[in-house]
Amino acid sequence: MSDSLKIAIIGGDGIGPEVVGAAMNVLEAAAPASGCKYESTEFPFSATHFLETGHVLEDVDIAELRKFDAIFLGAVGGLPNDPRLAGGVIEKGILLKLRFELDQYINLRPVTLYPGIETPLAGKTSKDIDFICVRENTEDLYCGVGGFVRKGTPQEVSNQTMVATRFGAERCIRYAFELAKTRQRKQLTLVHKTNVLTFAGDTWFRTFQDVASDYPEVTTDYHHVDACCMYMVAKPEVYDVIVVPNMFGDIITDLGAAIAGGMGIASSGNLNPDGTAPSMFEPVHGSAPDIAGQNLANPIATIDSLGLLLRETGRIKGDQAAVTCGERVGAAVKAVTPKFAGKSLDRSGYGTDKIGQMVIDSL
Ligand code: NAI
Ligand code: MG
Repeated sequence: MSDSLKIAIIGGDGIGPEVVGAAMNVLEAAAPASGCKYESTEFPFSATHFLETGHVLEDVDIAELRKFDAIFLGAVGGLPNDPRLAGGVIEKGILLKLRFELDQYINLRPVTLYPGIETPLAGKTSKDIDFICVRENTEDLYCGVGGFVRKGTPQEVSNQTMVATRFGAERCIRYAFELAKTRQRKQLTLVHKTNVLTFAGDTWFRTFQDVASDYPEVTTDYHHVDACCMYMVAKPEVYDVIVVPNMFGDIITDLGAAIAGGMGIASSGNLNPDGTAPSMFEPVHGSAPDIAGQNLANPIATIDSLGLLLRETGRIKGDQAAVTCGERVGAAVKAVTPKFAGKSLDRSGYGTDKIGQMVIDSL
C-alpha cells in the first residue's frame, strides 16, 4: 500500500498555467479508475512572480519542494526581449537551479511519432520514429566553469569548460542501460564526439564499455554526434535508446522533437532516479506569450508529460497505481492524436479546453 502521490505544481508564465490546468483535469478524471491517489499544491515561481516580488526561487522554496514526490511545470519565461529578465535570471534561477539542487541528473525525452501526427521526414511512419533520449543533466558545459580575461577589450578571452566525471557519466549510462533492458529492442547507442573531445569523450566511452559488461542482453552502438544528426533524419529507425552528454543532448533532443511532430507534442522529465529529491516533468515548449490567455495552446505535450510523471514517479516510489494511471493517460493521448491528422499541432483550431476534453473522453 502506498500513500498518495504529492505533486508540486508550478504553472509558470504565459500558456504554462493553461496547459497544466488542462493536464490536471485529465489527472482528476483518470486517477479514480486506476486507484491512483494524489495531492497537489500550487507554487507561484515564474517570471511574473519575479517581476512582482523580486523573488525567483529561494533556498527555503527548494526545501519546501523537496517534500514532494514530483514537480509538474508548465513553462517559465516572459517576453524574450524584456530587459528586466536579461541574463537568464529565470532560466538559471528556476530551471537550472531545480535540476542541480534536486540532482535531477537524467533528462528523459521520448521521441515517438504518434499516429496522425505529421513528421517532416518524408516516408517515415510511427514504426520508424520510436526512440528515447537519455541526456545527462548536471555536468558538461552546463556547470558554469569558465571565465573572461580582458573582458570588453579587443584582446578579450573567454573559455567555458566541459566537465565530465566518471561518477556523473556512470550513473547516467547505467540508467540508460536499465531503461534499454526493459524495452523490446534492448538497443543502446552512445552519442558523443570522441574523435575530437579526446578527454571527456574518452571518460564517457570507457565508462560505457565498462557498464555494458553488466548488461549482456543489451546491444550497444556508438555514433559521433554529427553522424547522429544525419541518422536521426535519414534513418531514425536505427535508434531505440540514446545516451548522450548534456550539451549534445540539448541539441539532438530538439531535433528529436522536430521529427516527432514538434513542440506541440514533445514531453520531458528531469529525473532523480534515486528518489533522493523530486523529479520534474514539463513540456519542452516555452510559455508562448504570443498566444497566452486565448485558449489556443495545445496541451498535448503537457498531458503527455503528466503521463511520464505518473509512470516514472510511480516506478521510483513503488506506486503501481500511479504507473497504471500514467499508462492510461499515455494511451488516451495516443488515441486522440489521429484526430490531428492533416492539421498543425500548434494551430489545430481545437483549443486548449477542447483538446483536454478529447483526452478525457478517450481515457
Ligand atoms: P515557445 O516554445 O514558448 O514558443 C515558440 C512558438 O511555438 C510560438 O509561436 C508559440 O506560440 C508556439 N507554441 C509553443 N507551445 C505551444 C503550444 N503548446 N501550443 C501551440 N503553440 C505553441 O518558445 P519562445 O517563444 O522561444 O519562448 C517564450 C518564452 O518561453 C521565453 O521566455 C523562453 O525563455 C521561455 N521558455 C521556457 C521554457 C521552459 O520553461 N522550459 C522552454 C523554452 C522557452
Ligand atoms: Mg533546448
